[in-house]
Amino acid sequence: MPPEEIILWGHFHSILIYGGPDGELGASLRYLSQRYSMPYPELKGLLTDIGTEELGHLEMIGAIVHQLTRDLSDDQIRTAGFDAYFVDHTAGVYPTAASGFPWSAASMQVKGDLIADLTEDLAAEQKARVTYDNILRLSDDPDVNDAIKFLRAREIVHFQRFGEGLRLAKDRMNEKNIYYLNPSFDR
Ligand SMILES: [Fe+2]
Repeated sequence: MPPEEIILWGHFHSILIYGGPDGELGASLRYLSQRYSMPYPELKGLLTDIGTEELGHLEMIGAIVHQLTRDLSDDQIRTAGFDAYFVDHTAGVYPTAASGFPWSAASMQVKGDLIADLTEDLAAEQKARVTYDNILRLSDDPDVNDAIKFLRAREIVHFQRFGEGLRLAKDRMNEKNIYYLNPSFDR
């Protein structure tokens, strides 16, 4: 991979998944925060399990960003669009979106309602998968692509598991005929 492409990678693609609105940091904090108000132990466990795994993915993406950007020359930084990031963060790994916007809790939600939260989680997994798809369209680095394909596959599994969780939630609510209430809060 030519140096310019390495820089583009670090700047426009990997960082997006590290701290972007559909990235691993948002995913882990979303699930590990939503878990508390889940009314059923299976759903608490599901969110804890996937949220913890997403923290591991955050570490993987951080390592990729670091490896792609740590040895840049001044000229490479200047000519490949890494200059603004470099001024603020040198070659440190800071959680931002590809646009440069710092990661924000405003990019996620904890609604305290299991149907609302699990539906958001399904969308989050699908958006993460699309983001990884887009990275694979732009990257031809085999080492990076192997890691991205692994992470993409995990997002598909998470989407399926959240789908199962949503079905479990609806079945439990139907059993007690409380579908019109929020069982996380209404007693
Ligand atoms: Fe995921």
